[in-house]
Amino acid sequence: MRVTVLVENSVGKPLGLIGEHGLSFWVEHEGHSLLFDAGQRGAVVSNAQFLGVNLSAAEAVVLSHGHYDHTGGLRAALERIGRRSPVYAHPDVFSSHRVSSPVDRYIGIPYRREELEAAGAEFHWVREPLELFPGLWLSGEVPRRTDFERGDERMYVLQGGKRIPDPLADDLSLFVCTPGGLVILLGCAHAGVVNIIEHAREVTGVSKVAAVVGGTHLGPVGLEQLENTIKYLMELDLDLLAANHCTGLPVAARLKGIFGARFRFAITGEVLEL
Ligand SMILES: [Fe+2]
Ligand SMILES: [Fe+2]
Repeated sequence: MRVTVLVENSVGKPLGLIGEHGLSFWVEHEGHSLLFDAGQRGAVVSNAQFLGVNLSAAEAVVLSHGHYDHTGGLRAALERIGRRSPVYAHPDVFSSHRVSSPVDRYIGIPYRREELEAAGAEFHWVREPLELFPGLWLSGEVPRRTDFERGDERMYVLQGGKRIPDPLADDLSLFVCTPGGLVILLGCAHAGVVNIIEHAREVTGVSKVAAVVGGTHLGPVGLEQLENTIKYLMELDLDLLAANHCTGLPVAARLKGIFGARFRFAITGEVLEL
């Protein structure tokens, strides 16, 4: 399979690409292709063109969750695809996600559902694991099992005028079964990297994890979650850890030190053959 990083915070190749705080992957697996997330501001369209990716060949669009940095480019991507397009997401994807700092604000999808449908989206709601293409799974809602993955405490939703921690039930990941083992594609891993990987093993029945790619959200979480997750990853015997986006540079640099050649900064323009 192949993953092309269409949008990430940084730019990796001098091709006229644009970096955005956000994420978008082009995923190809055994003759199928899909768009996983759409970045923040629409750079996904021109970046795809520079990278030789034909967005209109997408058989599906998958949203990892409703944050603006993964969905803000969705309308532009749908317009580029130019026809009715299935969009798979958790039913809470339009939840009113908010963050308390550094500026208290709304960080959910910057569109109404109707606006996206007018641009071609046909939403399919996913709560349970779903095999989209043979060997390529959408996680469904990820059970929270570990006691240390408390997530990003700045994130909240309003319920009856009161702030409650954002459950981010809409956090979905992709699991791809390859001959070398499981490839796990994360959006922001708000469900917790360990919870997601253990869920992937259970859903697919494959225990060998070959690669973890995407946003780990280990930058903003607490020290206990960070240390326990790194310990878990070190015990996994991964072939590749391509952490990016909300991993943040300090944590990414530390992971590079631990994993050496098995770590890659999966920045805009990178192509991972897995
Ligand atoms: Fe994100
Ligand atoms: Fe996020």
